[in-house]
Amino acid sequence: MTSLLVTNVGELVTWDDERPILSDAAFVVEGGRVSWFGTRAEAPAADTVRDVAGAAVIPGFVDSHTHLVFAGDRSAEFNARMAGQPYAAGGIRTTVAATRAATDEQLTATIARHLAEMRMQGTTTIEIKSGYGLTVHDEARSLAIAQQFTEETTFLGAHVVPEDTDLPTYVDLVTGPMLEKCSPYARWIDVFCEQGAFAEDEARTVLKAGMAAGLLARIHANQLGFGPGVQLAVELGAAAADHCTYLTDADIDALASSDTVAGLLPGVEFSTRQPYPDARRLLDAGVTVSLATDCNPGSSYTSSMPFCIAVAVRDMGMSPREALWSATKGGARSLRRDDVGHLSIGARADYAVLNAPSFIHLAYRPGVPLVSSVG
Ligand code: NIG
Ligand code: FE
Repeated sequence: MTSLLVTNVGELVTWDDERPILSDAAFVVEGGRVSWFGTRAEAPAADTVRDVAGAAVIPGFVDSHTHLVFAGDRSAEFNARMAGQPYAAGGIRTTVAATRAATDEQLTATIARHLAEMRMQGTTTIEIKSGYGLTVHDEARSLAIAQQFTEETTFLGAHVVPEDTDLPTYVDLVTGPMLEKCSPYARWIDVFCEQGAFAEDEARTVLKAGMAAGLLARIHANQLGFGPGVQLAVELGAAAADHCTYLTDADIDALASSDTVAGLLPGVEFSTRQPYPDARRLLDAGVTVSLATDCNPGSSYTSSMPFCIAVAVRDMGMSPREALWSATKGGARSLRRDDVGHLSIGARADYAVLNAPSFIHLAYRPGVPLVSSVG
């Protein structure tokens, strides 16, 4: 097994318990894993040496929430929103029509293109949801395609009720034949619990059916208004309650006393002109927070984790360090993974080299392509 020493790291973020951030550092990669890290002066010999000339190195971003299986474009809808139109869950149906009409090859190429975009911006692990097919066939093929790119695939048949059916009939389909066909391709079950999508009882039915089929639960909750989603996530022991824009004190208390990660998706509020979620309130209450893009053509068409970090720092009360943690280790927690999102010994050697001396530049230099390479 050959070893690689990455050295002359101006600032190394490992999130290791004892030495989470080191200056003038180095680390060794063997067999795709971190086998050593420390100060440059103590570095051992290795087969190959890479000198990064004082750059900062961070764990690759873990984007724990994306909807990359889609076709079509909703820039006109965005344009209308910027002129004052509100965002509504119903816009999802536009993308459903385009996705159903697309070939497998087109959907595959679209994911590959966005993944390349993400990697250039430092993302090394992603979750991908279905949810723009909404028939047994189209949800199953969405997941089969997504599974070619990541093991973190999520069945979101319960995204909205399609036009040609009614709510009880559709919930029966999602929890019956659709789940049966889709569960072999998915690790996670998700539901959009929101006014205009699925209410508490239907959301509970969907998540419980998925869990009974061996999937792990996550949820879209409290995005457009106050609601039961967050508390349902906690009740069912879901790994993540994502969005969390409108939270009561009781929602915060429930999250704080649970293992459920609160997923914040600032690209959505940016692109829908909604108020940003209050990350400070969650962090001060002791809630574990993740940051993700929610990359989708409707509510948040960004693939950039650095953009999400910049907004979280500027407008959501997070420090640069908290935002970076949430975009890496927090994302890993949201996906119940301990091999990614950090660079301590044994972690997967997924890292990003920044064109900057410190990770603070991710927020300090918004919109600048700071990731020079990804390992
Ligand atoms: O996470 N909230 C539900 N689903 C997506 C929106 C998808 C769309 O508008 O197409 C979201 O924001
Ligand atoms: Fe989403």
